[in-house]
Amino acid sequence: MNEEQRNMNEQAKPFKPLQPTKDYSAYFQAPSLKDAKKRGKEEVAYEQFSINAQFKGMGNGRKFMIQTFGCQMNVHDTEVMAGIFESLGYEATEDVNEANVILLNTCAIRENAENRVFGELGHLKPLKTKNPDLLLGVCGCMSQEEAVVNKILKTYDQVDIIFGTHNIHKLPEILNEAYMSKEMVIDVWSKEGDVIENMPKVRNGGTKAWVNIMYGCDKFCTYCIVPYTRGKERSRLPQDIIQEVRELAAQGYQEITLLGQNVNAYGKDLEGFEYGLGHLMDELRTINVPRIRFTTSHPRDFDDYLIDVLAKKGNLVEHIHLPVQSGSTSMLKIMARKYTRERYLELVAKIKKAIPDVALTTDIIVGFPNETEEQFEETLSLYREVGFEMAFTYIYSPREGTPAAKMSDNVPMDVKKERLQRLNAVVGEYSEKALKPYVGQVVEVLVDGESKRNKDVLAGYTRRNKLVNFRAPKEVIGKRVLVRVTDAKMYSLNGEFVEVVEKVEV
Ligand code: SAH
Ligand code: SF4
Ligand code: F3S
Repeated sequence: MNEEQRNMNEQAKPFKPLQPTKDYSAYFQAPSLKDAKKRGKEEVAYEQFSINAQFKGMGNGRKFMIQTFGCQMNVHDTEVMAGIFESLGYEATEDVNEANVILLNTCAIRENAENRVFGELGHLKPLKTKNPDLLLGVCGCMSQEEAVVNKILKTYDQVDIIFGTHNIHKLPEILNEAYMSKEMVIDVWSKEGDVIENMPKVRNGGTKAWVNIMYGCDKFCTYCIVPYTRGKERSRLPQDIIQEVRELAAQGYQEITLLGQNVNAYGKDLEGFEYGLGHLMDELRTINVPRIRFTTSHPRDFDDYLIDVLAKKGNLVEHIHLPVQSGSTSMLKIMARKYTRERYLELVAKIKKAIPDVALTTDIIVGFPNETEEQFEETLSLYREVGFEMAFTYIYSPREGTPAAKMSDNVPMDVKKERLQRLNAVVGEYSEKALKPYVGQVVEVLVDGESKRNKDVLAGYTRRNKLVNFRAPKEVIGKRVLVRVTDAKMYSLNGEFVEVVEKVEV
């Protein structure tokens, strides 16, 4: 894109005031490979967030509610939006009946994620009729898709606001516009995204915190919508990340998870110095916080220096989530994952050599267009060969605008479902196998809170990300405790509380 085109694009971005009868398609770039080719040619702006004085107090006497549908990144965006709402004077509520603003923070990764949002919009419609002053908004990844926005415009007139993932920091202006205009406010930018620092955040609980290290994704796996909904890869500056982690450590947070769609590409876009995820982890290692994780890793960019740093352990945990997607080299090629089965296995071997007690987990897609039985079996054999301890498994879901969605597909849905079941049986088997040896051992658990299934039981995770249930006084919630494992189930451990861990070992 040249400068002139870029300026035109900039001018077209926020489109206000809006009339619902207008043709909005002019303002979008539908997901397309053309966008991919433009990557890297647009400058990323680094800006500081601030709230315009005219909006202060906008939320006094009003309540907000945000429903979150997506991944950790989406959850963290909700924390940022909650921070903005509270800075404006709004109060949080969990009750749809007393909310003055309801936002649905959506996910576009698979069709069922989108269907849940459309279902929820249907549920909320009567509320809107009862309370016409209620503002109902749709934000997150679905808002970045032209087809979704058009569908909302056509079918869901209960929606007052639609905004995307690149302009969360504009929430005060967007809300103001919605109060003033009473028309549907659509503020979706198809640009590649900036980095906005200093955003307020309301973190959920004082124990675990998410910290973005980068935004966007440039990998363009052929099945995936994320590069289109989240824009191009752009890294936060190391000093901003380190500062945020330091502050969280000072506030007593026990675990930090660094977030990015492809954290191993961290730093590649930072000009003028050689700095990657390994360098960042090496610096964070010295901060007084008991556990640091990161998600999600891409096998392609996982370098030796990072492995060396992770092997130093301390507060860097022995768990790596390393999505493989498929065990078949020919399938990986069609998925555009940019590694082979052999390369993946080499990487795993290197990691295991450096960190012998590492727990590896993964993501797998079954039923990609034209996946053969042999290709699927290669996935099963890779799973066994690596000995993954857990996996998120999915049936391929075509996403409009992605290259895979245009491929013809000869795999019937019942075959896809059957493959998923067969894979899940292996996942269960290997999870059980990984958990059994814990019986009789004492493990360190960071206590999240009451178990979802039983309020009398507490639950938390080990450094290797094993779920442990045990009974103990509620005061230990948010602390690290030692638990003696008494029993291993397929996906979790049961144990007896031993004692609270007092010191931080860094
Ligand atoms: N950035 C991460 C994953 C983000 S999406 C990574 O590359 O690993 C989380 C998972 O959803 C992916 O790992 C993949 O397994 C799955 N996924 C993504 N697109 C999908 C689609 N169209 N259908 C089914 N599963 C999909
Ligand atoms: Fe999607 Fe992850 Fe591939 Fe990026 S690396 S395109 S987020 S699956
Ligand atoms: Fe979903 Fe967007 Fe995350 S599509 S998985 S919420 S990045």
